[in-house]
Amino acid sequence: MIQTLEWTQSGVVFIDQTKLPTEEVYVTCTTHQQVADAIRNMIVRGAPAIGVAAAMGIAIGVQKSKANNIGDLQKEFAGICENMGQTRPTAVNLFWAIRRMTEKFESLRSKTIPQIQQALIEESQRMHAEDIAINRAMGRHGSALMPASGGVLTHCNAGALATAGYGTALGVIRAAIEDGKNIHVYADETRPFLQGSRLTAWELMKDGIPTTVISDNMSGAMMRQGKIGAVIVGADRIAANGDVANKIGTYTVAVLAKEHNIPFYVAAPISTIDLATPDGSKIPIEQRSPAEVTHIAGKAIAPEGVGVENPAFDVTPAKYVTAIVTERGIARPPYDESLASLACDASLPTSTTR
Ligand code: MRU
Repeated sequence: MIQTLEWTQSGVVFIDQTKLPTEEVYVTCTTHQQVADAIRNMIVRGAPAIGVAAAMGIAIGVQKSKANNIGDLQKEFAGICENMGQTRPTAVNLFWAIRRMTEKFESLRSKTIPQIQQALIEESQRMHAEDIAINRAMGRHGSALMPASGGVLTHCNAGALATAGYGTALGVIRAAIEDGKNIHVYADETRPFLQGSRLTAWELMKDGIPTTVISDNMSGAMMRQGKIGAVIVGADRIAANGDVANKIGTYTVAVLAKEHNIPFYVAAPISTIDLATPDGSKIPIEQRSPAEVTHIAGKAIAPEGVGVENPAFDVTPAKYVTAIVTERGIARPPYDESLASLACDASLPTSTTR
């Protein structure tokens, strides 16, 4: 399995997703500031991977601390969390991870500094392992929703590279293939950052899963030609009413799917469900650099000085979402009831927000 990120003796190691698919290089972060920059600059991206990266970043910050009493360590801890929380605003998994590390830190107040350092490292590694197990569970639930054969469209990258491993939407596809289904993946290229053509296609081809890349404006035509039997995507934040924030362009795909009577599924862990946000209008949408739109691989594709919009995510209203696959089971409309009942199951950690 692809190692998206890993805790090692020398630091937190990330596969550099800005370099894929042409170069497979790894970056080692030895400070919490470097981890925050890796998240901000999308060396690591995808909501669950951002959460685990933030946890490891907090752990490395505490490990490197020179504080010699708990009061000073606590102040430093708060600063590290604050910095981490300013990296990317939409993926709620970031705030879920910060919250979980904070709760862990608070439970360790009676321990020595070396004990706290070790326990936080272990907590972040636990979150890494749990994320893979969660994705496999999601795959087991979601596999039944996938067609026995034919095309499945996905947008952005909700795969191993967006998680600690296996993936959410791509995890469901992987599980369906493991169950003997004959699926061909259509991957939207996903302008402007090209997560679909660069990352989804790369990781699926590594697994030998049949994949066709299409530019974003082709999905309607593919649906009309009968090539798409289902759509499955990930999510960065799901509001209490089932509105889904995901990569810009997801909304367009969902509307097209409805027009063609194609089921539109979302696969996301419970940590992506944000019951504190009532609906999609309250989800903060990250605005990224205009250069991502005006340039490709450093080359200008638009005249200098032109106006640019670059919202990294959009919100798909719940009415377009056929079902939401989580590690605890499948939620169906009405989502205000089904999501609350899944998220409030006390047997697993639930989502929190800042
Ligand atoms: O900007 P990105 O690449 O972090 O956006 C990622 C997505 O939109 C994914 O679909 C989402 O985080 C789910 S990942 C399992």
